[in-house]
Amino acid sequence: MKNIVILISGAGSNMKAIVETAERERWAGRIGARVAAVISNRPQAAGLAVAHAAGVATSVVDHRAHASRESFDAGLAQAIDAHAPALVVLAGFMRILTPGFVAHYAGRLINIHPSLLPAFPGLDTHRRAIEAGCKVAGVTVHQVTAELDHGPILDQAVVPVLEGDTPELLAARVQAQEHRIYPRAVARLVASLPAR
Ligand code: GAR
Repeated sequence: MKNIVILISGAGSNMKAIVETAERERWAGRIGARVAAVISNRPQAAGLAVAHAAGVATSVVDHRAHASRESFDAGLAQAIDAHAPALVVLAGFMRILTPGFVAHYAGRLINIHPSLLPAFPGLDTHRRAIEAGCKVAGVTVHQVTAELDHGPILDQAVVPVLEGDTPELLAARVQAQEHRIYPRAVARLVASLPAR
């Protein structure tokens, strides 16, 4: 079985979409893959309860308990590798990762970012897209490389920016697309990766 480990920091709606799609589309039988664990860097992340309710193992690696990024990433990698993952999925995981961590998971670490990369890497993407006068916005699923919000693009979806949009309205429109394309990208990639 190919294990998928999902990292979250907050609500975990993308994680939930992946877990539900895996169940509905019978990934275990069809592509030999399952969501083995959800790990959060924040103990209070709402997504932890969502994962637990879905029957997925959860754990916390609290970044505040570590003095350096290197120490946190080492602890995180240990928690992840306990599940021997074929694929590690960042789903609203709001930490900058060290080059060593990224190299350890080369080719099997992906992220979802709420903009049409390479436009608007970093935070506050929806406000920035509205302020720039963009007529379209969207979401990108990409391989993670050492450079923040870069790396080979696996999938994208486009939404319109509407007259009178607020960052919240635009975020909701983008999130609907996130929940559609992220499970699909995860399934496609994990099918091509070896079990560990
Ligand atoms: C998602 O919109 C995701 O695109 C974004 O955080 C949100 C997490 O929501 N990720 C980033 O901004 C990464 N730079 P979720 O916890 O409900 O999935």
